[in-house]
Amino acid sequence: MTAPAASAPIGVFDSGVGGLTVVRELIRQLPRESLIYFGDTARVPYGAKSPETIRTYSREIAGYLISQGVKAVVVACNTATAHALPMLASELAAPVIGVVAPGARAAVAATRGAGIGVIGTAGTIASGAYEQAIHAVSPSTRVVAQACPLFVPLVEEGWLDTEATTLIARQYLAPIAAAGVDTLVLGCTHYPLLSPVIGAIVGESVRLIDSAHATAAATRTAIEDAGLPRPAGEVSAAQYRFIVSDAPDQFLRAAQRFLGSSIERVETRTFG
Ligand code: DGL
Repeated sequence: MTAPAASAPIGVFDSGVGGLTVVRELIRQLPRESLIYFGDTARVPYGAKSPETIRTYSREIAGYLISQGVKAVVVACNTATAHALPMLASELAAPVIGVVAPGARAAVAATRGAGIGVIGTAGTIASGAYEQAIHAVSPSTRVVAQACPLFVPLVEEGWLDTEATTLIARQYLAPIAAAGVDTLVLGCTHYPLLSPVIGAIVGESVRLIDSAHATAAATRTAIEDAGLPRPAGEVSAAQYRFIVSDAPDQFLRAAQRFLGSSIERVETRTFG
């Protein structure tokens, strides 16, 4: 197989619609690059599934994106990054970028020494991926981690600032608030949409880290290092393809909330 050209799109995948928070940042920071987004809406959520299952799904999707001619793969899902990134990086010839290391580096840069909180799905927190990534950069930084499994369904339901959301968030975030950390990693695609509620509970002095921003910057660096930025001479606008494994209409309806703009067309591709 010949290597993809620099004009090829970047592949992005997530368990569903949440990875559009990463797409939003990629479009903002890399406006010249074309993207192919795959949301595994048939098998979402990934948060409580076993590492083996997530690795199987991730391998399947990354292989599909490569077959569509992408020049790099961005794993926009925190749970898939936590369980499958080393495997994908060793198996694919293309650059593979996950959300955990960029988010961890941004948190280490932001902390003023009181420690870092990390919230995510049950799978992400159980994997210890954020602790490892933070300690790889700053071994002495204290990390307090907390799974918040009800946040994903709340966001998917559009319950971003209801009383129930605040009550649940208060309970989840109590150990984080009690630990006195000064930085909190929103270690899940959906959590940036809950920033106002989370910020109000942990207080203004705690910096919230959205991995999407740092991941887009890391993607730029990775494609530059591989000599793959889209050539400046190309005049056509960037193209965006959105593909899901089920329920495209539901994806279209939810997309606006995560992407901040609407999507006109969604393709469907099933596995198995
Ligand atoms: N995309 C997942 C993540 O960032 C959240 C949704 C799910 O559990 O599949 O961990």
